[in-house]
Amino acid sequence: MKILVSGGAGYIGSHTVIRLIENGYDVTVFDNLYNSKITVLDKIEKITGTRPDFRLCDMTERKSLEAIFREDKYDAVIHFAGYKAVGESIEKPLMYYDNNINGTLVILELMEKYGVKNLIFSSSATVYGLPEKCPVDETAPLFCLNPYGRTKLFIEEILRDLCAADKDFSAVLLRYFNPVGAHPSGLIAEDPNGIPNNLMPRIIQAAKGEIPELQVFGDDYDTRDGTCIRDYIHVLDLADGHVAALDYAFKNKGSIPINLGTGKGYTVLELINAFEKVNGIRVPYSIAPRREGDSKSTYADNSLAKKLLGWEAKLNVEDMCRDAWRGAVNYE
Ligand code: WQD
Repeated sequence: MKILVSGGAGYIGSHTVIRLIENGYDVTVFDNLYNSKITVLDKIEKITGTRPDFRLCDMTERKSLEAIFREDKYDAVIHFAGYKAVGESIEKPLMYYDNNINGTLVILELMEKYGVKNLIFSSSATVYGLPEKCPVDETAPLFCLNPYGRTKLFIEEILRDLCAADKDFSAVLLRYFNPVGAHPSGLIAEDPNGIPNNLMPRIIQAAKGEIPELQVFGDDYDTRDGTCIRDYIHVLDLADGHVAALDYAFKNKGSIPINLGTGKGYTVLELINAFEKVNGIRVPYSIAPRREGDSKSTYADNSLAKKLLGWEAKLNVEDMCRDAWRGAVNYE
C-alpha cells in the first residue's frame, strides 16, 4: 500500500513515517521544509533501513503537487503539513488561512481528481478551546481561541462536507492532545525553527542552559498545584495512532473525529518534576503571569480510539521525558 505523507519531514510526520515503514507501507513524503530539515530522511533510513521517497513541494503550489499525484497511485494521504504556532497565527491570520486551508483544498481537489479516497488529518485538541469538563470526548463543543485552531476546525468542517458529498471518501480527523518525546534512538527529535512555544522544548532549553529559566505561566489555577493540566502523549504513540487510523479508513467511509491522548493529565510542575527525576537534571524555572487563552485543564477521553482503532497509548510520562531529553542532547 502506498501512502503519501504531507509534511512528513516534520516532528510528528517523521515519527509516523518510521512507523508506516515498520508496518510495511510504501511511503512518499512531500514537504516544503519550512519547519523541518531534509536530513531527517537519512535518519529515517538509519532507523528503518528504508529511505522514503521525497519530493520538495509546497502544498499551495498545485502544479508541483499534481506532478506527485500523477507519478504514483496512492492508497491514502496522511496530512500533517501546516503552520502551527498559536502566537504567530494571531499576528498573521491570513498567512495561516492561506497556507493551512488553501493548501488543504489543493490536496483534497487532487485526491478527488486522482481517485485517492482515504485521508488521515492532523487535527488538534485545540478545537475544544476551553473545555467545560474533562476528560474531553469527541462530542464536546468545538470552539477556537486563535486562527491556528480555527484552521484546524475549518478543515474538519471541510472534510465533513466532502464526506457528505462523496460517499466513497473516508476522513479520520485525529485530535492530538500534547505531543512530546522523540524516537528512543535519539536520532530524530522535535526541532522547531525559531523560539519554541510549547512546554517540553522550553523545559529542554532551560535544562540545557540555553535560557536562564523556564517561565511557568501561572500557578493560581484551580488545580492540584495551581498550574495547568495537559494530556501529554509520546510522539511514537501518536505515530501508532496514525497507522491504526489508516486501517480504520480503509474499512470505513465517512468522516470521524478521534482523540489521541493518554487520558491522563499532568500539571506543568508535575511534568517538570518528572523530567528532573528521570534525567537527573535541574530545570530552573520561575512563576510568571498566566498566558492568555490557556485552558486550566484539558485531557482526553480516549475511549473512541480504543473502541474503533484498537489503539491506546503505551508509553508513560517518564518515557516521554527520557526520550525528549535524549533526542535533545544527541540531536544534530
Ligand atoms: C502546555 C502548558 C502552558 C510554555 C499547544 C497548542 C495545541 C497543540 C499543543 C498543535 C500550558 C504551559 C508552556 C512555557 C508554560 N499544538 N507553559 N511555560 O497550549 O496546551 O497546546 O500545543 O496542535 O494546538 O495550542 O501546549 O506546550 O504551549 O502549553 O508554563 O514556556 O504549559 O501555560 O499550561 P498547549 P503548550
